[in-house]
Amino acid sequence: MESLYDVTLERYRKYVMPTYAPKILFVRGQGCRLWDADGLEYLDFAAGISVCNLGHCHPGVTRAIQEQAAKLVHVSNLYMNEVMPRLAEKLIFNCFDGVVFFGNSGAEANEGMIKFARKIGNETGRNEIISMENSFHGRTLATLAATGRAKYRKGFEPDVPGFKQVPFNDIEALKGAITDKTCAVLLEPVQGEGGILPADPEYLRAVRALCDEKKLLLLFDEVQCGMGRIGTRYAWQSFGVEPDAFSLAKAIANGLPMGAFIVKRKYADTLTVGMHASTFGGTALVSAAALAVQEAFDREGVLQNCRTQGEYLRKRLAEIAAPYKFVRGVRGMGLMIGVVLDRSAAPLAGILLKHQLVVLTAGENVLRLLPPLTITRKDADEALEKIAAGLAEWSVQLNEEGK
Ligand SMILES: Cc1ncc(COP(=O)(O)O)c(C=O)c1O
Repeated sequence: MESLYDVTLERYRKYVMPTYAPKILFVRGQGCRLWDADGLEYLDFAAGISVCNLGHCHPGVTRAIQEQAAKLVHVSNLYMNEVMPRLAEKLIFNCFDGVVFFGNSGAEANEGMIKFARKIGNETGRNEIISMENSFHGRTLATLAATGRAKYRKGFEPDVPGFKQVPFNDIEALKGAITDKTCAVLLEPVQGEGGILPADPEYLRAVRALCDEKKLLLLFDEVQCGMGRIGTRYAWQSFGVEPDAFSLAKAIANGLPMGAFIVKRKYADTLTVGMHASTFGGTALVSAAALAVQEAFDREGVLQNCRTQGEYLRKRLAEIAAPYKFVRGVRGMGLMIGVVLDRSAAPLAGILLKHQLVVLTAGENVLRLLPPLTITRKDADEALEKIAAGLAEWSVQLNEEGK
Protein backbone atom coordinates (compact mmCIF):
# COMPACT_ATOMS: atom_id res chain seq x y z
CA MET A 1 0.00 0.00 0.00
CA GLU A 2 1.27 3.46 -0.85
CA SER A 3 2.07 5.66 2.13
CA LEU A 4 0.28 8.95 2.81
CA TYR A 5 3.57 10.65 1.92
CA ASP A 6 3.80 8.94 -1.47
CA VAL A 7 0.14 9.57 -2.32
CA THR A 8 0.43 13.23 -1.35
CA LEU A 9 3.68 13.76 -3.24
CA GLU A 10 2.19 12.21 -6.36
CA ARG A 11 -0.89 14.47 -6.16
CA TYR A 12 1.27 17.47 -5.42
CA ARG A 13 3.52 16.83 -8.41
CA LYS A 14 0.59 16.26 -10.73
CA TYR A 15 -1.82 19.02 -9.69
CA VAL A 16 0.08 21.77 -7.89
CA MET A 17 1.95 24.44 -9.86
CA PRO A 18 5.62 23.70 -9.28
CA THR A 19 6.60 27.02 -7.68
CA TYR A 20 7.81 25.24 -4.53
CA ALA A 21 9.69 21.99 -3.97
CA PRO A 22 8.60 20.70 -0.54
CA LYS A 23 10.15 17.47 0.70
CA ILE A 24 8.42 16.81 4.01
CA LEU A 25 4.77 16.22 4.81
CA PHE A 26 3.79 17.60 8.20
CA VAL A 27 0.51 16.42 9.66
CA ARG A 28 0.44 17.94 13.15
CA GLY A 29 1.93 20.79 15.14
CA GLN A 30 1.99 21.80 18.79
CA GLY A 31 4.03 24.65 20.22
CA CYS A 32 7.48 24.46 18.64
CA ARG A 33 7.03 20.82 17.60
CA LEU A 34 5.93 19.35 14.28
CA TRP A 35 5.19 15.75 13.35
CA ASP A 36 5.57 14.27 9.88
CA ALA A 37 3.41 11.60 8.26
CA ASP A 38 5.58 8.83 9.75
CA GLY A 39 5.15 10.21 13.27
CA LEU A 40 8.68 11.62 13.41
CA GLU A 41 8.96 14.66 15.73
CA TYR A 42 10.76 17.83 14.62
CA LEU A 43 11.82 20.93 16.50
CA ASP A 44 10.51 23.85 14.47
CA PHE A 45 12.89 26.81 14.29
CA ALA A 46 11.19 28.26 11.21
CA ALA A 47 7.64 28.82 12.55
CA GLY A 48 6.20 28.81 9.03
CA ILE A 49 8.65 31.65 8.15
CA SER A 50 7.87 33.77 11.20
CA VAL A 51 4.14 33.13 10.99
CA CYS A 52 3.39 30.88 13.96
CA ASN A 53 5.11 33.22 16.43
CA LEU A 54 3.03 31.79 19.29
CA GLY A 55 3.83 28.24 18.19
CA HIS A 56 1.54 25.80 16.45
CA CYS A 57 -2.05 25.48 17.61
CA HIS A 58 -1.75 27.99 20.44
CA PRO A 59 -4.74 27.17 22.71
CA GLY A 60 -6.07 30.75 22.89
CA VAL A 61 -5.87 31.21 19.11
CA THR A 62 -7.38 27.78 18.41
CA ARG A 63 -10.28 28.51 20.79
CA ALA A 64 -10.91 31.90 19.19
CA ILE A 65 -10.94 30.35 15.69
CA GLN A 66 -13.29 27.55 16.77
CA GLU A 67 -15.72 29.88 18.51
CA GLN A 68 -15.76 32.45 15.73
CA ALA A 69 -16.05 29.77 13.01
CA ALA A 70 -19.25 28.58 14.69
CA LYS A 71 -20.66 32.13 14.92
CA LEU A 72 -19.81 34.17 11.81
CA VAL A 73 -16.97 33.74 9.34
CA HIS A 74 -17.40 36.45 6.70
CA VAL A 75 -19.82 39.18 5.64
CA SER A 76 -17.63 41.38 3.36
CA ASN A 77 -16.53 44.91 4.12
CA LEU A 78 -19.86 46.29 2.91
CA TYR A 79 -21.03 45.45 6.44
CA MET A 80 -19.35 45.52 9.83
CA ASN A 81 -18.31 42.56 11.88
CA GLU A 82 -17.73 43.36 15.52
CA VAL A 83 -14.29 41.73 15.75
CA MET A 84 -12.24 43.69 13.20
CA PRO A 85 -12.65 47.16 14.78
CA ARG A 86 -11.75 45.63 18.17
CA LEU A 87 -8.58 44.25 16.61
CA ALA A 88 -7.77 47.62 15.01
CA GLU A 89 -8.25 49.34 18.38
CA LYS A 90 -5.93 46.83 20.02
CA LEU A 91 -3.22 47.21 17.36
CA ILE A 92 -3.37 51.00 17.70
CA PHE A 93 -3.42 50.86 21.51
CA ASN A 94 0.12 49.48 21.37
CA CYS A 95 1.24 51.78 18.54
CA PHE A 96 1.21 55.48 17.68
CA ASP A 97 -2.25 56.88 17.11
CA GLY A 98 -3.48 55.94 13.66
CA VAL A 99 -5.73 53.77 11.51
CA VAL A 100 -5.42 50.29 10.03
CA PHE A 101 -6.24 48.75 6.66
CA PHE A 102 -6.62 44.95 6.60
CA GLY A 103 -5.72 42.65 3.72
CA ASN A 104 -4.51 39.08 3.42
CA SER A 105 -0.76 38.93 2.90
CA GLY A 106 2.51 40.77 3.20
CA ALA A 107 2.61 41.71 -0.48
CA GLU A 108 -0.94 43.01 -0.29
CA ALA A 109 -0.13 45.04 2.82
CA ASN A 110 2.86 46.59 1.04
CA GLU A 111 0.84 47.26 -2.13
CA GLY A 112 -1.68 49.15 -0.06
CA MET A 113 1.05 51.11 1.67
CA ILE A 114 2.60 51.97 -1.72
CA LYS A 115 -0.79 53.20 -2.96
CA PHE A 116 -1.12 55.26 0.22
CA ALA A 117 2.29 56.89 -0.39
CA ARG A 118 1.59 57.58 -4.08
CA LYS A 119 -1.80 59.09 -3.23
CA ILE A 120 -0.13 61.61 -0.92
CA GLY A 121 2.86 62.17 -3.22
CA ASN A 122 0.78 62.74 -6.33
CA GLU A 123 -0.87 65.71 -4.66
CA THR A 124 2.49 67.50 -5.05
CA GLY A 125 3.58 65.82 -8.29
CA ARG A 126 5.84 63.25 -6.62
CA ASN A 127 5.35 59.50 -6.92
CA GLU A 128 8.73 57.78 -6.77
CA ILE A 129 9.69 55.51 -3.90
CA ILE A 130 13.23 54.72 -2.84
CA SER A 131 13.72 51.25 -1.37
CA MET A 132 16.81 49.30 -0.39
CA GLU A 133 19.14 46.93 -2.19
CA ASN A 134 18.88 43.38 -0.87
CA SER A 135 15.31 44.01 0.35
CA PHE A 136 12.24 41.85 -0.12
CA HIS A 137 8.72 43.25 -0.25
CA GLY A 138 6.63 40.59 -2.00
CA ARG A 139 5.75 38.97 -5.30
CA THR A 140 3.07 41.23 -6.73
CA LEU A 141 4.25 43.49 -9.54
CA ALA A 142 4.62 46.69 -7.50
CA THR A 143 6.21 44.96 -4.52
CA LEU A 144 8.59 43.18 -6.91
CA ALA A 145 9.56 46.58 -8.31
CA ALA A 146 10.25 47.74 -4.75
CA THR A 147 12.26 44.59 -3.97
CA GLY A 148 15.98 45.19 -4.14
CA ARG A 149 16.98 41.87 -5.67
CA ALA A 150 16.69 41.81 -9.45
CA LYS A 151 16.54 38.00 -9.66
CA TYR A 152 12.93 38.00 -8.41
CA ARG A 153 11.88 40.33 -11.28
CA LYS A 154 13.62 38.44 -14.05
CA GLY A 155 11.18 37.25 -16.67
CA PHE A 156 8.33 39.40 -15.43
CA GLU A 157 9.28 42.62 -17.19
CA PRO A 158 8.30 45.35 -17.72
CA ASP A 159 8.93 46.53 -14.17
CA VAL A 160 6.34 48.76 -12.54
CA PRO A 161 7.88 52.26 -12.77
CA GLY A 162 8.44 54.60 -9.86
CA PHE A 163 10.95 52.63 -7.76
CA LYS A 164 14.69 52.73 -7.31
CA GLN A 165 17.01 51.09 -4.83
CA VAL A 166 19.98 52.33 -2.84
CA PRO A 167 22.42 50.41 -0.58
CA PHE A 168 20.98 49.65 2.89
CA ASN A 169 22.53 51.37 5.92
CA ASP A 170 24.10 54.06 3.71
CA ILE A 171 22.65 57.49 4.44
CA GLU A 172 24.79 59.28 1.83
CA ALA A 173 23.50 56.97 -0.91
CA LEU A 174 19.94 57.74 0.14
CA LYS A 175 20.60 61.47 0.22
CA GLY A 176 22.09 61.27 -3.27
CA ALA A 177 19.11 59.41 -4.68
CA ILE A 178 16.37 61.80 -3.56
CA THR A 179 14.94 63.95 -6.37
CA ASP A 180 11.98 66.30 -6.67
CA LYS A 181 9.95 63.24 -7.73
CA THR A 182 10.61 61.25 -4.54
CA CYS A 183 7.62 60.80 -2.24
CA ALA A 184 8.70 58.04 0.16
CA VAL A 185 11.43 55.79 1.51
CA LEU A 186 10.59 52.13 2.09
CA LEU A 187 12.71 49.72 4.13
CA GLU A 188 12.69 46.67 6.39
CA PRO A 189 14.06 47.62 9.85
CA VAL A 190 15.65 44.15 9.79
CA GLN A 191 16.07 42.71 6.31
CA GLY A 192 14.74 39.16 6.41
CA GLU A 193 14.99 37.35 3.07
CA GLY A 194 18.12 39.38 2.33
CA GLY A 195 20.00 37.64 5.17
CA ILE A 196 18.89 38.89 8.63
CA LEU A 197 20.48 42.31 8.38
CA PRO A 198 19.39 44.81 11.04
CA ALA A 199 19.37 48.51 10.26
CA ASP A 200 21.97 50.49 12.13
CA PRO A 201 19.89 52.48 14.72
CA GLU A 202 21.83 55.64 13.91
CA TYR A 203 21.12 55.16 10.21
CA LEU A 204 17.42 54.73 10.89
CA ARG A 205 17.36 57.93 12.96
CA ALA A 206 19.17 59.75 10.15
CA VAL A 207 16.65 58.40 7.59
CA ARG A 208 13.81 59.72 9.76
CA ALA A 209 15.44 63.15 9.98
CA LEU A 210 16.09 63.21 6.22
CA CYS A 211 12.48 62.27 5.47
CA ASP A 212 11.28 65.07 7.77
CA GLU A 213 13.61 67.56 6.11
CA LYS A 214 12.62 66.59 2.56
CA LYS A 215 8.94 65.99 3.40
CA LEU A 216 9.07 62.33 2.44
CA LEU A 217 7.02 59.54 3.94
CA LEU A 218 8.97 56.91 5.85
CA LEU A 219 7.47 53.44 5.27
CA PHE A 220 8.58 50.34 7.16
CA ASP A 221 7.95 46.80 5.96
CA GLU A 222 7.53 44.83 9.19
CA VAL A 223 6.03 41.77 7.53
CA GLN A 224 8.83 39.53 8.80
CA CYS A 225 10.49 41.50 11.60
CA GLY A 226 7.28 42.85 13.19
CA MET A 227 4.76 41.33 15.56
CA GLY A 228 7.21 40.50 18.32
CA ARG A 229 9.90 38.82 16.23
CA ILE A 230 12.74 41.12 17.36
CA GLY A 231 11.49 41.54 20.92
CA THR A 232 9.08 44.47 20.65
CA ARG A 233 5.53 44.26 19.36
CA TYR A 234 6.43 46.46 16.40
CA ALA A 235 9.98 46.43 15.08
CA TRP A 236 10.24 50.24 14.97
CA GLN A 237 9.84 50.27 18.76
CA SER A 238 13.20 48.46 19.09
CA PHE A 239 14.86 51.36 17.24
CA GLY A 240 12.83 54.22 18.74
CA VAL A 241 12.13 55.50 15.20
CA GLU A 242 8.50 56.05 14.18
CA PRO A 243 7.59 55.52 10.54
CA ASP A 244 4.64 57.35 8.93
CA ALA A 245 3.20 53.98 7.96
CA PHE A 246 4.20 50.34 8.31
CA SER A 247 3.04 46.97 7.10
CA LEU A 248 2.42 43.74 8.99
CA ALA A 249 1.41 40.23 7.92
CA LYS A 250 2.86 36.78 8.63
CA ALA A 251 2.48 36.45 12.44
CA ILE A 252 -0.43 38.81 12.89
CA ALA A 253 -2.99 35.96 13.05
CA ASN A 254 -0.50 33.16 13.91
CA GLY A 255 -1.13 31.24 10.69
CA LEU A 256 -4.42 32.47 9.35
CA PRO A 257 -3.89 34.78 6.38
CA MET A 258 -3.88 38.44 7.29
CA GLY A 259 -1.89 41.48 6.24
CA ALA A 260 -2.32 45.05 7.42
CA PHE A 261 -0.81 48.48 7.18
CA ILE A 262 -1.06 51.18 9.79
CA VAL A 263 -0.78 54.91 9.05
CA LYS A 264 -0.50 57.83 11.44
CA ARG A 265 -3.70 59.62 12.44
CA LYS A 266 -2.81 62.70 10.38
CA TYR A 267 -2.95 60.52 7.24
CA ALA A 268 -6.17 58.74 8.24
CA ASP A 269 -8.22 60.30 5.43
CA THR A 270 -5.77 59.62 2.60
CA LEU A 271 -7.56 56.51 1.34
CA THR A 272 -11.33 56.96 1.52
CA VAL A 273 -14.41 55.08 0.34
CA GLY A 274 -13.81 53.25 -2.93
CA MET A 275 -10.08 54.00 -3.18
CA HIS A 276 -8.81 50.71 -1.81
CA ALA A 277 -10.46 47.41 -0.87
CA SER A 278 -9.97 43.71 -0.26
CA THR A 279 -12.81 41.18 -0.15
CA PHE A 280 -11.37 39.07 2.64
CA GLY A 281 -9.57 41.85 4.53
CA GLY A 282 -10.39 41.84 8.24
CA THR A 283 -12.94 39.07 7.97
CA ALA A 284 -14.44 38.06 11.33
CA LEU A 285 -12.70 34.69 11.54
CA VAL A 286 -9.17 35.92 10.87
CA SER A 287 -9.70 39.01 13.04
CA ALA A 288 -10.73 36.75 15.95
CA ALA A 289 -7.48 34.79 15.56
CA ALA A 290 -5.46 38.03 15.40
CA LEU A 291 -7.21 39.40 18.48
CA ALA A 292 -6.32 36.22 20.37
CA VAL A 293 -2.69 36.74 19.29
CA GLN A 294 -2.75 40.22 20.81
CA GLU A 295 -4.26 38.87 24.02
CA ALA A 296 -1.52 36.24 24.26
CA PHE A 297 1.11 38.98 23.78
CA ASP A 298 -0.51 40.91 26.64
CA ARG A 299 -0.79 38.00 29.05
CA GLU A 300 1.94 35.49 28.34
CA GLY A 301 5.21 37.42 28.52
CA VAL A 302 5.92 36.62 24.87
CA LEU A 303 8.09 39.67 24.16
CA GLN A 304 10.23 39.26 27.27
CA ASN A 305 10.72 35.59 26.44
CA CYS A 306 11.71 36.48 22.88
CA ARG A 307 14.36 38.90 24.11
CA THR A 308 15.73 36.48 26.74
CA GLN A 309 15.84 33.37 24.56
CA GLY A 310 17.10 35.39 21.60
CA GLU A 311 20.03 36.78 23.54
CA TYR A 312 20.86 33.33 24.92
CA LEU A 313 20.66 31.64 21.52
CA ARG A 314 22.78 34.25 19.76
CA LYS A 315 25.46 34.08 22.45
CA ARG A 316 25.59 30.28 22.53
CA LEU A 317 25.47 30.01 18.75
CA ALA A 318 28.49 32.28 18.46
CA GLU A 319 30.35 30.03 20.94
CA ILE A 320 29.35 26.82 19.19
CA ALA A 321 30.23 28.17 15.76
CA ALA A 322 33.55 29.74 16.77
CA PRO A 323 35.77 26.72 15.86
CA TYR A 324 34.43 26.50 12.31
CA LYS A 325 36.14 28.69 9.77
CA PHE A 326 33.20 28.47 7.36
CA VAL A 327 31.09 30.42 9.92
CA ARG A 328 31.61 34.17 9.67
CA GLY A 329 29.43 35.16 12.60
CA VAL A 330 26.00 35.33 14.18
CA ARG A 331 23.70 38.34 13.84
CA GLY A 332 20.12 39.39 14.38
CA MET A 333 17.76 40.77 16.99
CA GLY A 334 15.38 38.95 19.33
CA LEU A 335 14.50 35.62 17.77
CA MET A 336 15.34 36.72 14.22
CA ILE A 337 18.75 35.11 13.97
CA GLY A 338 21.20 34.59 11.13
CA VAL A 339 24.28 32.39 11.19
CA VAL A 340 26.43 33.87 8.44
CA LEU A 341 28.54 31.39 6.46
CA ASP A 342 31.20 31.78 3.79
CA ARG A 343 29.16 29.57 1.43
CA SER A 344 25.59 28.45 0.74
CA ALA A 345 23.69 27.52 3.90
CA ALA A 346 21.44 25.03 2.09
CA PRO A 347 23.57 21.91 2.79
CA LEU A 348 23.69 22.76 6.51
CA ALA A 349 19.92 23.29 6.59
CA GLY A 350 19.56 19.85 4.97
CA ILE A 351 21.79 18.23 7.61
CA LEU A 352 19.81 19.91 10.42
CA LEU A 353 16.57 18.62 8.94
CA LYS A 354 18.01 15.10 9.21
CA HIS A 355 18.63 15.94 12.88
CA GLN A 356 14.91 16.83 13.03
CA LEU A 357 15.48 20.57 13.35
CA VAL A 358 13.52 22.72 10.89
CA VAL A 359 15.45 25.86 9.87
CA LEU A 360 15.54 28.28 6.94
CA THR A 361 18.14 29.94 4.79
CA ALA A 362 18.28 33.59 3.71
CA GLY A 363 20.35 35.69 1.34
CA GLU A 364 23.20 33.88 -0.34
CA ASN A 365 24.85 32.31 2.68
CA VAL A 366 22.83 32.72 5.86
CA LEU A 367 21.26 30.03 8.01
CA ARG A 368 18.08 31.64 9.32
CA LEU A 369 16.46 30.77 12.65
CA LEU A 370 12.95 32.05 13.35
CA PRO A 371 11.60 29.87 16.16
CA PRO A 372 8.26 30.53 17.85
CA LEU A 373 8.67 33.33 20.40
CA THR A 374 7.36 30.95 23.06
CA ILE A 375 10.33 28.54 23.09
CA THR A 376 11.76 27.60 26.47
CA ARG A 377 15.43 27.44 27.47
CA LYS A 378 15.14 23.65 27.12
CA ASP A 379 13.94 24.01 23.51
CA ALA A 380 16.79 26.43 22.82
CA ASP A 381 19.32 24.00 24.30
CA GLU A 382 17.91 21.14 22.25
CA ALA A 383 18.24 23.20 19.06
CA LEU A 384 21.79 24.21 20.02
CA GLU A 385 22.73 20.57 20.52
CA LYS A 386 21.40 19.70 17.07
CA ILE A 387 23.19 22.66 15.50
CA ALA A 388 26.46 21.68 17.22
CA ALA A 389 26.07 18.13 15.87
CA GLY A 390 25.11 19.44 12.42
CA LEU A 391 28.10 21.78 12.23
CA ALA A 392 30.47 18.98 13.27
CA GLU A 393 28.99 16.62 10.69
CA TRP A 394 29.17 19.22 7.93
CA SER A 395 32.74 20.10 8.83
CA VAL A 396 33.79 16.44 8.44
CA GLN A 397 31.97 16.24 5.10
CA LEU A 398 33.62 19.43 3.84
CA ASN A 399 37.05 18.17 4.92
CA GLU A 400 36.50 14.88 3.12
CA GLU A 401 35.47 16.75 -0.02
CA GLY A 402 38.47 19.05 0.36
CA LYS A 403 36.24 22.13 0.54
C1 LIG B 1 9.75 41.69 4.60
C2 LIG B 1 8.71 40.98 3.78
N1 LIG B 1 7.82 41.71 3.09
C3 LIG B 1 6.86 41.12 2.35
C4 LIG B 1 6.79 39.75 2.24
C5 LIG B 1 5.72 39.13 1.40
O1 LIG B 1 4.76 38.54 2.21
P1 LIG B 1 3.69 37.53 1.60
O2 LIG B 1 4.43 36.31 1.18
O3 LIG B 1 2.73 37.28 2.74
O4 LIG B 1 3.04 38.22 0.46
C6 LIG B 1 7.71 38.95 2.93
C7 LIG B 1 7.67 37.48 2.81
O5 LIG B 1 8.59 36.78 3.11
C8 LIG B 1 8.69 39.58 3.71
O6 LIG B 1 9.60 38.87 4.40
